[in-house]
Amino acid sequence: VYVKNAWYVAAWTQDLEAAKPLAMTILEEPIVLWRAGDRVVAMEDRCVHRLAPLSRGRCEGATLRCMYHGMVFDADGKVVEIPGQALIPAEAKVRTYPVVEKHSWIWVWMGDPARADQALIPPAVGYDDPDWILGHGQLDYKAEARLINDNLLDFSHFAFVHEQSLNTGRAIADTPPTTIAEARGVRFQRWNLASRNAIGDIIPESWMEYEYNLPGILLSLTGTYAPGAAEAANHAHPGDAPALFRQVSSQAVTPMGPKTSRYFFSIGVHRMSGDESARDAMVALIDKAFIEDREMIEAQQRIIDVTPNPKIMPTAHDRGTTIFNQMIAKLIRQETAAAPSELSTARARA
Ligand code: FES
Ligand SMILES: [Fe+2]
Repeated sequence: VYVKNAWYVAAWTQDLEAAKPLAMTILEEPIVLWRAGDRVVAMEDRCVHRLAPLSRGRCEGATLRCMYHGMVFDADGKVVEIPGQALIPAEAKVRTYPVVEKHSWIWVWMGDPARADQALIPPAVGYDDPDWILGHGQLDYKAEARLINDNLLDFSHFAFVHEQSLNTGRAIADTPPTTIAEARGVRFQRWNLASRNAIGDIIPESWMEYEYNLPGILLSLTGTYAPGAAEAANHAHPGDAPALFRQVSSQAVTPMGPKTSRYFFSIGVHRMSGDESARDAMVALIDKAFIEDREMIEAQQRIIDVTPNPKIMPTAHDRGTTIFNQMIAKLIRQETAAAPSELSTARARA
């Protein structure tokens, strides 16, 4: 079960080319994305005729042709042409989904279209933001999305999973961050004091702040400061203190199936503090780090799968994870409670 009334990331906008349909599965629903002129369309990837995937179809102007027997669909999902037949049945229509391009992502609303509110698209930084020099990537997981959310809600794993790559040292594990529950997510803040890592390099003081919003969207901002900045800020938000280096990261976790997920991520350096080569170094680093996460999480999934009654034992670092998972559980309860009543109202009306 998933939260349906939320915006899920389906793709990077630049990966959806004109005249080239793109297949994606979100919450177990096959979806085809395509461009009808200026308009991006997300619809059921299943022809009404014999259920062939429309993502194997051909864009013809503002329509999409199924390339099995040639039926043509418009941007509202309606069949507008059936080869060899003049009559088009009224029910010849596939489901369309509310869809928005924002922050360089294509967002699809998986729930009740009447409730699709663009204001619920969580904050992220895309290529349209001139302040940042970004790089990006994506990874597919053989694991349920929840495990990836849990990973991103607890950065204490940096000290161990990413011991050799991110090289943050132990401090991030030895003291939990400040964790703040928000309306649709969790916010984390912390100072990492200057230290030496395993190979003796000095790790500078940094302020790390990130939010993790429904249904699984991360936005982080990290600033590196001269020694003493944490002290000067009273170990709270550094405010306007000048950062030596600023970086940003946006990440999205999209459940495809019960045990498959797609992870979209970008990382960038602020234009005032670095250049393309700094960006490239960070991209290389997170490419390595995110493979480390995936290896651990897929291995964790395999153990969970052979465990008859899997139970967890939360720690002090799980505060954010617990808040977020409770938020998800509550929304799912509300949605499943609402669903039968909608059904009975429909029945009453009929
Ligand atoms: S399956 Fe699409 S036209 Fe036949
Ligand atoms: Fe990680």
